[in-house]
Amino acid sequence: MGLFKDYVNQTRKPEGFLGRLMVDGMNGGHAKLADWGMSHLTGVSPASVVELGCGGGRNAAELMKRYPGALLTALDYSQTSVQKAKATNRKAIAAGRCSVVRGNVASLPFEAGSFDLATAFETVYFWPGLETCFAEVYRVLKPGGAFLICNESDGTDETGLKFEKIIDGMKCYTADELTAALKAAGFAAVSTDRRPDKPWLTVVGRK
Ligand SMILES: C[S@@+](CC[C@H](N)C(=O)[O-])C[C@H]1O[C@@H](n2cnc3c(N)ncnc32)[C@H](O)[C@@H]1O
Repeated sequence: MGLFKDYVNQTRKPEGFLGRLMVDGMNGGHAKLADWGMSHLTGVSPASVVELGCGGGRNAAELMKRYPGALLTALDYSQTSVQKAKATNRKAIAAGRCSVVRGNVASLPFEAGSFDLATAFETVYFWPGLETCFAEVYRVLKPGGAFLICNESDGTDETGLKFEKIIDGMKCYTADELTAALKAAGFAAVSTDRRPDKPWLTVVGRK
């Protein structure tokens, strides 16, 4: 279990050599899940997007493709993830469309009402205190803004629960748990969807 445990624990906060391998892998490995999650963003045309727990930055790049007029800010608390996300989005950063910042979702380094859309792919499992972090997302969204959460675990599947035991501090949430935490943080309308063929979960909250 030693090396495998060390490697999968890099999903929480990638660091060092194993962390660099992990962020490279996540950029490709999470693409289909993230694209399915983004397909739930109907009727959304954001001018400003924040991609939280951005990892290697592939989903930030995809969001900029989908919303060509939007400015994108990507945030992660791992220096390894920030470095990779900057490399992935080098051209967009040079063009002034994208910035990548190091920070913790528990205390977001943004003014209130900064963004039309916030996204979180495969990351809320690790957030410290869901309601506190969701209240931070709520704070930085504009009125009417949307918050998209997308997880490959629906909180009940065997694989998710197995990883929960191996990865320190990981918690796989159900749709009901995410909905309750979003509502407690102030989100008014919350919708959820689970893929029929996989335990993938998307939750969208509206401010
Ligand atoms: C499993 S990776 C997912 C990365 C990317 N979203 C993707 O789908 O490929 C989780 C990421 O969330 C980041 N993360 C976890 N907790 C965080 C927190 N409290 N604040 C900021 N980033 C966090 C980790 O550093 C890591 O890069």
